[in-house]
Amino acid sequence: MSKHLSDGFYQDMKKLEPHYPTKVALLLPALHRAQEEYGWLPPEVLDEIGIYIDIHPAQVREVASFYTMYNLKPVGKHHLKICTNVACSLMGADELVEYCEKRLGVRCGETTADRKFTLNEEECLGACGTAPAMMLGDDYHENLDTESLGEILDRLEK
Ligand code: FES
Repeated sequence: MSKHLSDGFYQDMKKLEPHYPTKVALLLPALHRAQEEYGWLPPEVLDEIGIYIDIHPAQVREVASFYTMYNLKPVGKHHLKICTNVACSLMGADELVEYCEKRLGVRCGETTADRKFTLNEEECLGACGTAPAMMLGDDYHENLDTESLGEILDRLEK
């Protein structure tokens, strides 16, 4: 089997290993690190992680597909994840999703044709007190409305 993950990936895993009780406990950090490298988790990368951790590829896929933070298909340069859980919905998240869908011309789960934006609904981001909230890459944006979200998209489109 050919290697897809970088030497840097394996070096980072070796550094982390002593801090985890078992090798299988490295699965989530390994998925994070691989996603940093690829922007998403291609099937061959999931297989390679399974071999490294010594678990069946199906188990790797089960875990990767359980958490919405892992991308199982390629995403655009800017990944918008709008929380539509209870607090955010009550504070207007559905309107934000609709606004993005119209403005970007995609539905939730899709990427724009120029691969600049991917739009997703997200489960609770733990920012309910400042709802509605969105993650853009690793950054939080809170207390959003269509105006502030529009300004963010304006900046990203430049
Ligand atoms: Fe949206 Fe918690 S419900 S951050």
